[in-house]
Amino acid sequence: MVGPPGAGKGTQAQILASELSIPQVSTGDIFRANVGGGTELGQQAKAYMDRGDLVPDEVTNAMVADRLGQDDARAGFLLDGFPRNVAQARALDGILEDLGQRLDVVLELVVETEEVVTRLSGRRSCRSCNHVQHVIFDPPRTPGVCDNCGGELVQREDDQEETIRHRLRVYEEQTAPLVDFYRERGLLVSIQATGSVADVTARALAAVPTGE
Ligand code: AP5
Ligand code: ZN
Repeated sequence: MVGPPGAGKGTQAQILASELSIPQVSTGDIFRANVGGGTELGQQAKAYMDRGDLVPDEVTNAMVADRLGQDDARAGFLLDGFPRNVAQARALDGILEDLGQRLDVVLELVVETEEVVTRLSGRRSCRSCNHVQHVIFDPPRTPGVCDNCGGELVQREDDQEETIRHRLRVYEEQTAPLVDFYRERGLLVSIQATGSVADVTARALAAVPTGE
């Protein structure tokens, strides 16, 4: 899944992974869990994430190789937030080759810049289960409490307006070239990521092979 920060990758990946019965592999979520747990990986990643820069490729690629090698990924997986540049895409080719796997589809979520700034400024994420809500677009039943698990909803460190703008620049410079990269391979499907969450899910499900 590829798209700018705030396009709804995490929101859709969680739903699609559940619909397709495959694990969601979100590099952002794995990094945040490591930052929260104070691991060595978390310490390596934290400063980059707080600035809105990409964590170095060798750290990220090794983490993804390890994750995709786990048993639950054998029957498939949904990548959310990886690859993030052409070097990572080439590393992914090698990882998949080693595992005897291949990409079925690259789903691009298309949404305008001002919309993603609004989405990210109002985003709240659950500390316990990673469920994502929005103060206006998906308000929690009880303010500050996750609708999914009752955990605490918090604002991400990198969701300050200045950092959001920086992440958008990083996306344009480093990640957007992947759209052409995968289009040339015939793997790209682009969908509009505006409208309700359910509308976007329906478009996404229509675009991905279900294996049935
Ligand atoms: P990561 O966690 O991947 O962040 P991101 O790409 O910036 O994407 P976001 O999580 O901000 O947005 P999203 O598209 O998932 O949107 P969401 O569904 O939450 O990466 C964070 C950092 O980790 C990076 O900056 C980097 O440092 C590091 N990192 C991660 N991967 C890396 C890699 N491969 N290499 C190097 N470094 C890496 O939705 C946003 C909001 O909008 C929510 O509030 C949601 O409720 C709302 N919303 C969703 N859909 C809709 C809708 N249809 N209508 C209205 N509101 C909606
Ligand atoms: Zn929760």
